[in-house]
Amino acid sequence: MFTSVIIPAAGFGERMGATIGKQFLLLNEKPILVHTLERFQSCDDINEIIVATQRSSFPIIEEIRKKYSLSKLKAPVEGGERRQDSVAKALKCVDAESEIISVHDAVRPFVRRKEITQSIETAKYFGASVVAVRAKDTMKQASTDGRVEKTLNRSSLWSVQTPQTFQRKILIEAYEFAFKNNIVATDDSYLVEQIGVLPIIIEGSYENIKITTPDDLLLAELLVKRFMP
Ligand code: C5P
Repeated sequence: MFTSVIIPAAGFGERMGATIGKQFLLLNEKPILVHTLERFQSCDDINEIIVATQRSSFPIIEEIRKKYSLSKLKAPVEGGERRQDSVAKALKCVDAESEIISVHDAVRPFVRRKEITQSIETAKYFGASVVAVRAKDTMKQASTDGRVEKTLNRSSLWSVQTPQTFQRKILIEAYEFAFKNNIVATDDSYLVEQIGVLPIIIEGSYENIKITTPDDLLLAELLVKRFMP
């Protein structure tokens, strides 16, 4: 089944305090984005990779494609104001044949092949899947002034990561519904939940971190040594 992966990579990395988007910071001498793209390039279940990024970064994407022989990487798509807008724009450029669409953050370079394939297989049969890990800490819900309102039941809580994978028609319907109803979300599965599809959780790894702050970059430098072949 033809499968596409959308990689939103249009963030500016404000929380990293860097002048370039965090996806272009180097990790073991390669941009973080390249580590991520290589995970999908080498996965037989993936047919095409679509990156959404700023127009000013298009030449970098072209350069990366040639330098790292990323044959599945399609022409970049201009990102939007929010992550959701970047994914929506990329969604319009997915191959007409594509039936399954994964979405994966550019800044999660430690995704494992097993997570990608399980996510795809599950979405094929159940419509939607999300990779997630069990919450390690006790989670509390608090009011805006910082007072604890309640303690949540940890055994039913998950920290959700990417990839998140969907049957094409479900993801498109969810994005259309979100657009019409002004629904804003930081992950794609939330939008799918709004049209009544409940994604299946794939238990992933705590190493699949999202590199967001300088602390994450330090951790990534340790992980990259262990992770790379
Ligand atoms: O900053 P955030 O956690 O939302 O970033 C998650 C991913 O979404 C990153 O890979 C980032 O580049 C991407 N993003 C995007 N377009 C935006 C904001 C973030 O593609 N406008």
